[in-house]
Amino acid sequence: MDGSVELPPDRRALDGLGRNHSLHTALADLVDNSIDAEASHVLIRFVRKDGRLRGLYVVDNGKGMSAARINVAMTLGGRREYSEKDLGSFGIGLKAASFSNAKLVTVLSCAAGHAPVGRRLEADPNKRGFHCDVVAEAFAKSELSRRWGIPWSGTGTIVRWDEVFGFPVTDDPTRVEEFITRSMTEIINHLGLTLHRVIEEGRIEIFLDVEDVDHELVGPRSRVDAINPFGYARTGKAGYPKNLVARHGDLQVVFKCHIWPPRSRILEFNLAKGAEKHQGLFFYRRGRLLQAGGSWDGVSVAVRERQLARVEVDIDGLPPGLLAMNPEKSRVQVGPDFAPLAASAVADDGATFADYLTDAEERFRESRKRRRARKSMIPPGKGFAPQLKRAIRDEIPMQDHQAPITMRWTRFDRAHRDDFFRVDRADRVLWLNERFRPPAKSGRRGSNDASLLKSLLYLLMEQAFTGEYLGVRDRDNIELWQEILSMAAKVDVGE
Ligand SMILES: Nc1ncnc2c1ncn2[C@@H]1O[C@H](COP(=O)(O)OP(=O)(O)O)[C@@H](O)[C@H]1O
Ligand SMILES: [Mg+2]
Repeated sequence: MDGSVELPPDRRALDGLGRNHSLHTALADLVDNSIDAEASHVLIRFVRKDGRLRGLYVVDNGKGMSAARINVAMTLGGRREYSEKDLGSFGIGLKAASFSNAKLVTVLSCAAGHAPVGRRLEADPNKRGFHCDVVAEAFAKSELSRRWGIPWSGTGTIVRWDEVFGFPVTDDPTRVEEFITRSMTEIINHLGLTLHRVIEEGRIEIFLDVEDVDHELVGPRSRVDAINPFGYARTGKAGYPKNLVARHGDLQVVFKCHIWPPRSRILEFNLAKGAEKHQGLFFYRRGRLLQAGGSWDGVSVAVRERQLARVEVDIDGLPPGLLAMNPEKSRVQVGPDFAPLAASAVADDGATFADYLTDAEERFRESRKRRRARKSMIPPGKGFAPQLKRAIRDEIPMQDHQAPITMRWTRFDRAHRDDFFRVDRADRVLWLNERFRPPAKSGRRGSNDASLLKSLLYLLMEQAFTGEYLGVRDRDNIELWQEILSMAAKVDVGE
């Protein structure tokens, strides 16, 4: 050798960073940092000035950073010691997430026993080197002491983006509003899904709002609720979920195979893009969802008939050669050994992946056949809880051209004091006797109460509302039910 030369990376190396990020995946990466910092609350705030969207804040009440820490944080590839459960790993998340969406990122932070600190990085390819501006302490302090509406005990971090690329370059209120609504929905769905386990455990609460700087107004806040892609009420097939286990050297890989009940309308099943798009493998790392199905990664192929099949896989401790996440944490890359490994997985009862997929497909086909053969019914209307209505619609073809059946409680007059129900065919109302109304479990009694009772009555009496006339037999049936239900209700109220 004749010596050495220093070869700092070209600034343009930054351009490629986080190229696969969108606004919501980038924000998820920032929220990951907040979770690693043990924040209990995170606020994502859009900033609007002169009618235009100008910037975005992510504020958390985590441990914060000292001056030394924040320098590492702003360094590309600046790593720290990671614990078993940390979501961070490459030391590029903050930078990649920020520069894939904005030209300027400012980080302000305060750790216990340290003064507030602030740094600002600009992604300007014409600027030489990797200079980082130091924010005045007074500014950091004033920003950190604003009322962000999250519990605050002196420590926390603010990440602020300015000159965000994706924001509309207009002050047209309709377009700005449209953009905000669409982005917020995307963010809420994405965070609710990727972080559903963390949210369900109560480790973090995430809010979104919009600040209008000119009018010093902050709009109503929305909360991110967990969206569990395995959150069905009842398994689609008995015996599932089933664990298929494969061995990889000394390691065990567990495939938790689920079969969804057919035709669910809930978001947990449809996940914004539709059920068919979300069959396949769901990979989790440290409780965070990295991949929400969409592929079988060589284990099988995605087809319509497999739409009820979803497999949960925790990749913690597995070697990167087998499975590795991309830097945006939005996808998992599988190695060549992965598909053969999955094929070797078996359950306690000897079932394999092929058996599982067959079961899922059969369930799908059979449900389609069965539903076609089912007689259509008048839809349920007011008085039914929304989930109940969805469940009924999932199972029964609906006569949507018909006025729905309403169920309501009311006081019956003296002459009918002992009746349990009254059929009002003209207005499609099934009146229920208030006197026999079951007490509410949780204080307030809403009009959508008594789901169990109402669904039974709906299934039993829907026919009483169809057709022009009631036959003799129908009328006799109604009398019979009236008799028995009235007695049952009396027994229940203790008369
Ligand atoms: N909200 C935050 N609160 C506390 N520390 C943070 C926060 N965001 C980033 N950091 C610090 O910055 C470092 C770099 O973050 P990042 O670029 O996302 O890489 P990684 O998360 O992979 O370490 C983190 O390891 C952490 O020490
Ligand atoms: Mg990170």
